[in-house]
Amino acid sequence: MTSRHPSAPADSNTPKLFIKTYGCQMNVYDSDRMSDALAPKGFEASTTPDAADLIILNTCHIREKAAEKVYSELGRLRALKEERLKAGRPLTIGVAGCVAQAEGEEMLSRAPVVDFVVGPQAYHRLPQLVERARDGERPVETDFPTEDKFEHLPQATKQVTLKRGPAAFLTVQEGCDKFCTFCVVPYTRGAETSRPMARLLDEARALVDAGVREITLLGQNVNAWHGEDAGGTASNLGKLLFALAEIDGVDRLRYTTSHPRDMHDELFAAHRDLDKVMPYLHLPVQAGSDRILKAMNRQHTADEYRALVDKLRDARPDIALSGDFIVGFPGETDEDFEATLQLVRDVGYAQAYSFKYSQRPGTPAATHDVQVEEDVKAERLARLQALLNDQARAFNATMVGRTMDVLLDRKGKRAGQLAGRSPYLQAVHLDAPDALQGHVVPVRIDAAHANSLSGSLLHGDTAAMPATAVPELPVA
Ligand code: 5AD
Ligand code: SF4
Repeated sequence: MTSRHPSAPADSNTPKLFIKTYGCQMNVYDSDRMSDALAPKGFEASTTPDAADLIILNTCHIREKAAEKVYSELGRLRALKEERLKAGRPLTIGVAGCVAQAEGEEMLSRAPVVDFVVGPQAYHRLPQLVERARDGERPVETDFPTEDKFEHLPQATKQVTLKRGPAAFLTVQEGCDKFCTFCVVPYTRGAETSRPMARLLDEARALVDAGVREITLLGQNVNAWHGEDAGGTASNLGKLLFALAEIDGVDRLRYTTSHPRDMHDELFAAHRDLDKVMPYLHLPVQAGSDRILKAMNRQHTADEYRALVDKLRDARPDIALSGDFIVGFPGETDEDFEATLQLVRDVGYAQAYSFKYSQRPGTPAATHDVQVEEDVKAERLARLQALLNDQARAFNATMVGRTMDVLLDRKGKRAGQLAGRSPYLQAVHLDAPDALQGHVVPVRIDAAHANSLSGSLLHGDTAAMPATAVPELPVA
């Protein structure tokens, strides 16, 4: 972070926007959309809060004490706001995201520093909200409006897309109707809504046009996406992947996060038939005990999940899996927890996220009368993570000596180094000329580290690359 004094003048009269993003990829995507929505108002993105005229905290509600953490951050911002006021350069502060949605009006009374509150469904109204906030009103916008926010959110310009790099997100659906008993998402993000297929294809073409090579389709429950193709025939995520794969210039497709109940035949076919669909899937299971899965309202058994994994591996033998796990869900016994370990051993994960269950106000499981002791949760989490870490290390070790396509999406730490992502989303570092940034190139993996791989360009230099891989510079 740069250390500009808060009262120092900005580089120009252009108002600066700083968005601090918490949580999932969906929020990363939303922060970019907020930035795009405010660009026509003249706001330019800033990488530091010190230089900003408008700060937005894009919050996440999924973790424990999420709201408390946001209030602490707001406490820290108070001093900056006061200094700014004295210096005659007022600072506007907004709170967005799922904590904003959950807290609403409450935020205004608990945090006087806040100028406006906006929930995830109302980002298209940001320009007006900022204006009202600057006029001294303290607007709160947490309704689920009937109009489609995406219709009203401007698309990023080609230049901005270029700057964001060759791997882009594209939100295809939002919200969730699954109501897992531990989860706040159906309350903060609302009911499942899918974006129209034609619009998504247009946006994907625009991304590719601006140099994007990899598109990750996003949704809280992404494989619940549904729509209609140009002929009016019902479509699903598998069919959408087939349509996206037709676009010239799309090299890689991913989607996240999926629910096991919404895996469908066309999705397996997409994994089987489309090389562009990366052989990697985040498919959370949360627990391995049928009793707990039922109490979580996951709507499937452990064996049904195992069968899905088998079907995926039949379709795409080199597919690797990632998952989410919760330990210490109310009523979880030692035996239930052993079933989770067994499921992990049976499936074998390349990567995973695991959490201690935490009570989220307003969710059914929070009021369950048999909560698991904190030390039991901690002990179970440590055992689960040891197993998952072993699996991840073993998976990464199998990469050494292999050649794989890597999308070089950023500069490396040293001069002459670039970094990228393998098909399995592993970070890969290698020596490569800057000119290759933004391209998919074959890389031989030389070593596996705790959280990354290192490798060498297969062809040694750009001259040896096939003509199609010698790039114009797509990334600024
Ligand atoms: N407690 C612990 N983990 C949770 N998650 C969601 N809600 C909770 C909760 N109340 C985890 C789930 C989900 C991931 C995004 O966060 O594993 O898949
Ligand atoms: Fe939450 Fe995912 Fe369950 Fe929906 S499917 S309620 S987002 S955990």
